[in-house]
Amino acid sequence: MLAFLTSQIRMPALAALLFVAPQLAAEDIGDAKAGTEVWEHCSACHQIGQGATSGIGPHLNGIFGRAAGGLEGFDYSKGLIREGNNGLVWSLDKLDAYLENPKALVSDTRMSFDGLETKKERDDILAFLRQFSDNPQNIPEAPPTARTHEIVLPPEVLAIVGDSEYGEYLASECTTCHQIDGANEGIPSITHWPQEDFVVAMHAYKVKVRPHPVMQMMAGRLTDEEIAALAAYFEKLE
Ligand code: HEC
Ligand code: HEC
Repeated sequence: MLAFLTSQIRMPALAALLFVAPQLAAEDIGDAKAGTEVWEHCSACHQIGQGATSGIGPHLNGIFGRAAGGLEGFDYSKGLIREGNNGLVWSLDKLDAYLENPKALVSDTRMSFDGLETKKERDDILAFLRQFSDNPQNIPEAPPTARTHEIVLPPEVLAIVGDSEYGEYLASECTTCHQIDGANEGIPSITHWPQEDFVVAMHAYKVKVRPHPVMQMMAGRLTDEEIAALAAYFEKLE
């Protein structure tokens, strides 16, 4: 996981970014045919197309525009149902984030899949999936305006060593809702989480990939150092 995250540094210098920008649009065009091959990563668990049914995973017909956890009769994880209730609808950028790292979007998702590391694979699978949606929103062939959310964090953010004493001080703002003893009654427990998962989840709220408005606001106010401090504190809590 860490190797995967650190292998992707996406902070090009501004000059480079401006220079490269005109080519980005072409790169972003997903290739549905190439997506057929990427689909082999999915087909052990998912079906798509005429007559597709749900198995280990829900069938993926009409996935664009479908509410997360929204397929009648499928036994989803609590996390995916919660995100669906928060208003998460599968658009291009949400699917992109989920397929890049399922746990960053939904910590306790039951989809045990490491994620598609390269953007090319994700563009291709999204173009492939889109063929089976009547109402394709944010089509991959359009310019990549929807992809403003990067959930793969730069290594320097993940490398910040959190100050757990400072974390304890900040945590008073969190423990009005999150039970310090790790109890999970409606509000998920955040105690004893691996620091990296905690940091990734907080940044997913910060960039609004995760839809919960209160947590978006909480995370939006915190600096990278403060998030690291909180992660360190909650991991070590007795
Ligand atoms: C090991 C089995 C497995 C693999 C491999 C897998 N998935 Fe899943 N997928 C699941 C399960 C199980 C769920 C339901 C997750 C939950 O309830 O948290 C799911 C959920 C989803 C959802 C959300 C559906 C909904 O109704 O909200 C999408 C989209 C999805 N998978 C796409 C993919 C794609 C695309 C691939 C391949 C790149 C893939 N999955 C690979 C098992 C898998
Ligand atoms: C007003 C209540 C409230 C406060 C205050 C609050 N949270 Fe949350 N938090 C929630 C709820 C509700 C969720 C579930 C959100 C969702 O469904 O995405 C959540 C989710 C989370 C998650 C993701 C959990 C998971 O299982 O994916 C983390 C991490 C988190 N909060 C950390 C914090 C931190 C750190 C603070 C303090 C800076 C904080 N929260 C303050 C209510 C709160």
